[in-house]
Amino acid sequence: MARQLRKPAGSSGMEVAEKMNAANEFLYDFTLDEMMIRENQSILEIGFGNGKFFPKQFSRADNLRITGLDFSRSMVKAARKQNKELIREGGLSLVKGQSDKMPFPSASFDKVFCINVAYFWDDPQEHLLEIYRVLRPGGRLYTTIRSRENMKLLPFTRYGFKTYTEEEWKLLCHLNNLLFIRCSSVHEPDFTGMGAPTGNRSFCMVAEKRDL
Ligand SMILES: C[S@@+](CC[C@H](N)C(=O)[O-])C[C@H]1O[C@@H](n2cnc3c(N)ncnc32)[C@H](O)[C@@H]1O
Repeated sequence: MARQLRKPAGSSGMEVAEKMNAANEFLYDFTLDEMMIRENQSILEIGFGNGKFFPKQFSRADNLRITGLDFSRSMVKAARKQNKELIREGGLSLVKGQSDKMPFPSASFDKVFCINVAYFWDDPQEHLLEIYRVLRPGGRLYTTIRSRENMKLLPFTRYGFKTYTEEEWKLLCHLNNLLFIRCSSVHEPDFTGMGAPTGNRSFCMVAEKRDL
């Protein structure tokens, strides 16, 4: 399970992705609310799973350019299949790649976000450095994760998951020239689909690339 959540692959990866959609839709809505997406913005999602929620992003404002980056071949394939229309219309581009070595020019995005992905960054600074590079000055990073207390209750998180407190994330942002703006927390509705404890406490940490 830990391996599949980190990098879903094959038919069991597809099943895990479906379960993640059910477990994480609330966090998508919460994070998109936090992002306050405006028309004409350029947005990057890192780690989109099977891409079910791209239409939600497009529903937030007109004329968006949205890019998804995921290092799982299976997830990129599934997301391309699921979002054919958005890709054909030209607003959505899905790329296979990893967030510590992104195939994008510097200063490409107004907003970068990731939901349930930072747990898998073995050296978070390498990823934050890259995110800093691809953000425009004044652009913002939205990192949504579940609390350490909730994650500890899931047996598979013993295998290579990193969790963060608000203070720890603030320090990491500071070390990477990202100005910590706020930590919004939310109490998720009860959900038992993945053997998860009910009533998770989750956070969306917001940080900004300083306009140096
Ligand atoms: C636990 S899933 C979360 C999926 C979705 N965001 C959600 O919350 O339901 C993690 C996703 O991030 C991708 N991922 C993990 N680490 C990554 C990295 N360093 N670069 C790009 N994609 C990554 C995985 O392939 C997977 O699709």
